[in-house]
Amino acid sequence: MDKYFEIYQKFDIHRLMLSDKRRVLMAYKNAIFNMKEKFQGKVVMDVGAGSGILSIFCAEVGVKKVYAVEASTLAQIIEQVSIENNLQNTIEVIHSKVEDIHPCNLEKIDIIVSLWMGFYLLHEGMLDSVLFARDNFLRRGGMMFPCEAILYASPCQLPSMYEFGVNSRESLPVYLSMRCIGKEYRKIISNEPKVLRLHQDTLSTVGKLLVWLDLNCISVEEVNLFDRKEFSLAFEKNEKYQGMCIWFAVEFPDGSKLSTAPYDEATHWKQTVFVPLKDIEVKKKRCNQL
Ligand SMILES: C[S@@+](CC[C@H](N)C(=O)[O-])C[C@H]1O[C@@H](n2cnc3c(N)ncnc32)[C@H](O)[C@@H]1O
Repeated sequence: MDKYFEIYQKFDIHRLMLSDKRRVLMAYKNAIFNMKEKFQGKVVMDVGAGSGILSIFCAEVGVKKVYAVEASTLAQIIEQVSIENNLQNTIEVIHSKVEDIHPCNLEKIDIIVSLWMGFYLLHEGMLDSVLFARDNFLRRGGMMFPCEAILYASPCQLPSMYEFGVNSRESLPVYLSMRCIGKEYRKIISNEPKVLRLHQDTLSTVGKLLVWLDLNCISVEEVNLFDRKEFSLAFEKNEKYQGMCIWFAVEFPDGSKLSTAPYDEATHWKQTVFVPLKDIEVKKKRCNQL
């Protein structure tokens, strides 16, 4: 079994996701229930069903069938959860990677539902699997749920880095210069992105659009191009920032949105901050390379 799926066999990760009320109830459940009529009588595929929560919402609004596709051993739990909720006649669990399912074994899919978003949207790379499902199983004109994903960025101040003596001796409780520690600390934290909840006042802007994905038509090749793309952003203020904050939003076909911005209510994704070795100097009306 793939290491990636072993992670999803742990209940803690599902508990974290299930306890995120904004994503479970306010976003996915509301959007599915708002669009009840569009779901009724339809065949749905839940790609990466996990605990089965989204399959259950779909069954509750009266779909004809949900294929709950889950590659990890959690698939067995979905079976039990659907029996516990008396939805076993509607939810058909498929314990498999979605890429390994043969189309002949399925009815044509009307709607693909999935929660594929990782930290800073694309971290897990699960979108490739959802697009595979779209290209191989979704009927022409079928619905993607969510249907759009948008990635935003803004330079941000990280007061905690100052507290650790990165830039100023006055910020330390002891009046000594410890910039050398700060420099080493910065080297360590610049090695990998940090998942943090930031206050909106630390941002330089409300967020510049980096990437907009139309999930109805974007290809895997186009998504993979973003890995190597350089972005230019223009900002309004003349200031120095310690990090680049990234967050995302997804949109459902009813027009409702799930945003993970610092100025919206918190989700388990928080925000992701990339810390470069040197401060980002934002120059008014110029373009800054990410
Ligand atoms: C982010 S979790 C979402 C779980 C659930 N849908 C929810 O909303 O709580 C993603 C799930 O998709 C599963 N998964 C990821 N890639 C998959 C693939 N290619 N085929 C089948 N399952 C996959 C993982 O094992 C994990 O349980």
